[in-house]
Amino acid sequence: MTEQLIVSNENGVGRLILNQPHKLNAIAFEMWHGIGEALDQFASDDSVRVVVIEGARGAKPAFSAGADISQFATRRNNKEAVALYEQAVHRGEHALMNIDKPTIAKIHGYCVGGGLAVALCCDLRLASDISTFGIPAAKLGLGYTLASLKPLVDLVGPSVTKEVMYTAKRFTAAEALIMGLINRSVPVDELNALVDDYTNAIASNAPLTISAVKTTVAESLKDEAVRDVALCAAAVARCNNSADYIEGRTAFVEKRKPQFTGR
Ligand code: COA
Repeated sequence: MTEQLIVSNENGVGRLILNQPHKLNAIAFEMWHGIGEALDQFASDDSVRVVVIEGARGAKPAFSAGADISQFATRRNNKEAVALYEQAVHRGEHALMNIDKPTIAKIHGYCVGGGLAVALCCDLRLASDISTFGIPAAKLGLGYTLASLKPLVDLVGPSVTKEVMYTAKRFTAAEALIMGLINRSVPVDELNALVDDYTNAIASNAPLTISAVKTTVAESLKDEAVRDVALCAAAVARCNNSADYIEGRTAFVEKRKPQFTGR
């Protein structure tokens, strides 16, 4: 695993830190693969209940300023190289989108280009109010693939997607909140507490219920022709037949906190 990523697992929270603070946590080619590896690791570790992605603290606050442009001249300089690069991005984004656990982007500072794309692959985006958001592809003449653009369309719809992409502007956290790009914006010194509150809540809830919601939301975004209704029904049945469901309703009656195991 590259040193440009810091991976940890504590109290049910799998944490992935993008670690290039001198480049505003820009995402290098190797990091896209590393993100995929880290997510696979979290996926197969039962102790991980929720995943948080954030940027390393540096002189200027940043979640990530996108793909590492300093590599473009060597890593994206011909058709084959671009295809290889897109493959790496897809590896990271696909792992983020498809992990069967809730994911949170903890955003403090610049959240730009591929950085915003990474945040969009997460289930929730919790941000400090000084954060800014944008995709400057049109300023670079960079093409955005269907796979990279779809999460934005799914989240904010076609018109706001076009607003973000056509203008290539950077939007404030207040604007991002109105546009539906982020779930919450809080003062800088409240961000840690907000993220801890969310991770604690999610980590103590029933994993099978959360997983069924994630599956069903993903399927609901697909065309009816390819939507796997049986998969959604099976996920719900798994909850209703689980030991956790017995534990949940027993704990309620006994007026105590349930202890869920994901089984
Ligand atoms: N790739 C590589 N390096 C990057 C980077 C990126 N995407 N974004 C920023 N950096 C580097 C800068 O080159 C600079 O390095 P230096 O100190 O060695 O000169 C350092 O990070 C700080 O960036 P700087 O531009 O000085 O900060 P700023 O506060 O003036 O501006 C941004 C911040 C995010 C507006 C600006 O850095 C920017 O536009 N970055 C590119 C974003 C982008 O186009 N991403 C799309 C790629 S998908």
